[in-house]
Amino acid sequence: MSTALITGASGGIGQAIAEEFAKRGNRLVLHCHKNTDRLEEIASSLVEKGYETPLIVAGDLSEAETAERIAKEAGQVDVLINNAGITRDGLLISMKEKDFDDVIASDLKSVYLMSKACIRPMIKKRYGRIINITSVSGIYGNAGQANYAAAKAGIIGFSKSLAKEVASRNITVNCIAPGMVDTEMTRAISDLAKEKLLEQIPMKRMASPCEIAYIAAMLADERASYITGAVIEVNGGM
Ligand SMILES: NC(=O)c1ccc[n+]([C@@H]2O[C@H](COP(=O)([O-])OP(=O)(O)OC[C@H]3O[C@@H](n4cnc5c(N)ncnc54)[C@H](O)[C@@H]3O)[C@@H](O)[C@H]2O)c1
Repeated sequence: MSTALITGASGGIGQAIAEEFAKRGNRLVLHCHKNTDRLEEIASSLVEKGYETPLIVAGDLSEAETAERIAKEAGQVDVLINNAGITRDGLLISMKEKDFDDVIASDLKSVYLMSKACIRPMIKKRYGRIINITSVSGIYGNAGQANYAAAKAGIIGFSKSLAKEVASRNITVNCIAPGMVDTEMTRAISDLAKEKLLEQIPMKRMASPCEIAYIAAMLADERASYITGAVIEVNGGM
């Protein structure tokens, strides 16, 4: 049975990934920042559905000690899904330094710290899957998201480089770049702005979190062994 560690599993996409991986018989380690009550509810609902009880871990992944502690608590991780992330949107002209730093720390530094904390046992086992959730903003840019786009583009460069470092050890490193997904993150956008964004999506709708989770499961499958350094866009044709 493989063990999947999912960061930010109390959020919309993380929860959907947890459900998809539980269905496929993985042992789950679910991480959240602070919202352990929500994560416990998610874990209980998985147990009610007959899946194994997930291990719950918590903490701020932009801190090295926390990332190392969480990797230790998780034990051997076969699949690491770096999903945790935040937005602090605003035009550059008024973007506060803290909003830039916080997004880089939560969205990009966390990926470096968690990957580093989990990679050694993967190298020893000569098996691993790292799946990083980036965004279309990191590929095409997005007005009002210079900080977020920089972090998400950074994840892509990081993933492509790490993929080259560990390919010979049978470890794959890939990115999923969602467009707009129906979660708390997009519920914060005003209706008017949302309407405008939806106009730019050929499918005229947001993704459901399970449409992202399915691609994560596909990349985690042992049979996806020749896909590495890739960025898979899941964006309704954007
Ligand atoms: N919703 C979208 O439209 C969309 C689009 C593209 C990419 N994404 C990305 O998908 C991922 C999941 O997003 P979501 O929509 O489920 O958001 P969400 O806000 O529902 O969940 C985000 C999760 O990340 C955790 N997190 C944030 N900062 C953290 C930190 N420093 N340490 C530990 N945990 C932290 C939060 O606690 C939460 O559990 C994010 O990386 C996001 O950037 C989302």
